[in-house]
Amino acid sequence: MRDAHPSAPRSRRRRNAALATAVLGVAAVGTAFVVAAPPSRSAPRPAVAAADHANGSTPWLRAAGAPPTVIAHRGAPSAAPENTLVSDEVARRGGAKWIENDVQPSKDGVPYILHDTTVDRTTDGTGRVRALTAAQLDALDAGSWFAPAYAGVRVPTLAAQLADLRERGGNLLLEIKGAHTRAEVARIVRDIREQDMSDRVFVQSFDIPSLEHAHELAPDLPLGLLRVTLDADPVALAEQLDLSAYNVSDAALATRPQVVSELHSAGVAVNVWTVDRAARWKELDALGVDGIITNRPTELGGWISGRSN
Ligand code: G3P
Ligand code: CA
Repeated sequence: MRDAHPSAPRSRRRRNAALATAVLGVAAVGTAFVVAAPPSRSAPRPAVAAADHANGSTPWLRAAGAPPTVIAHRGAPSAAPENTLVSDEVARRGGAKWIENDVQPSKDGVPYILHDTTVDRTTDGTGRVRALTAAQLDALDAGSWFAPAYAGVRVPTLAAQLADLRERGGNLLLEIKGAHTRAEVARIVRDIREQDMSDRVFVQSFDIPSLEHAHELAPDLPLGLLRVTLDADPVALAEQLDLSAYNVSDAALATRPQVVSELHSAGVAVNVWTVDRAARWKELDALGVDGIITNRPTELGGWISGRSN
């Protein structure tokens, strides 16, 4: 049975939420959501994909025989409310070293982790993220919509998200969601720098100007271009934008799978989204993609552990 994710029936989400609650030892106390203490408050820095793929011609390419990197899409959205710290924790405890989150600014310019343009679907509030102040976003409940056990979970700021990753472990595939101004991207870069997380963040976006701003402001940060459809010449675009990765939808990749080897020849990694079926994991593994972005990170990790090389 496929795991529940945000579009799945509420009853299935509740079962997964109960399982995550049992695994994590989490408890809702009033409106404060408590996560059991991490194994170590000063967790060692995890090996980044650069180390995972050390034999590749660029740090982000998968080495021969190595598995694709598991990238936990919005945390573990089949078991916990997406884009929250508890969802990240579920993914982390399921073995994921990379977590994908979406960032966009509040009305007063604070970067928050949230996917949709509005807060309506994933919180108890209403309105556009960009029309709400940080104080208003901080007051929202981002857990109850998913399951009662998550009442009181908050929408994290990017800074809180980065601090949590630094303390508990893990790397961030950070999607700059929607068009951002240079100043808005500069604030994201500032948060990454202030949290001392520059070597554990990979920036991606559908928005090319946002990637150009990021490259100008922080040329050390690796960049991935998100694509719904394939470009006529992905290699040329990757070179133009100085991309480390071309992060393509699975449907688009299926139209021309050989683009993986073309991009690899140019030293560009390929990460695919969002793939939740083992049959497709197997095909993508054989195709040589570098990372698989999935709503089922623990299951993908388990599948990789059991796969034959
Ligand atoms: O990481 C790829 C994926 O997150 C892009 O789509 O809509 O889930 O942000 P979306
Ligand atoms: Ca995303």
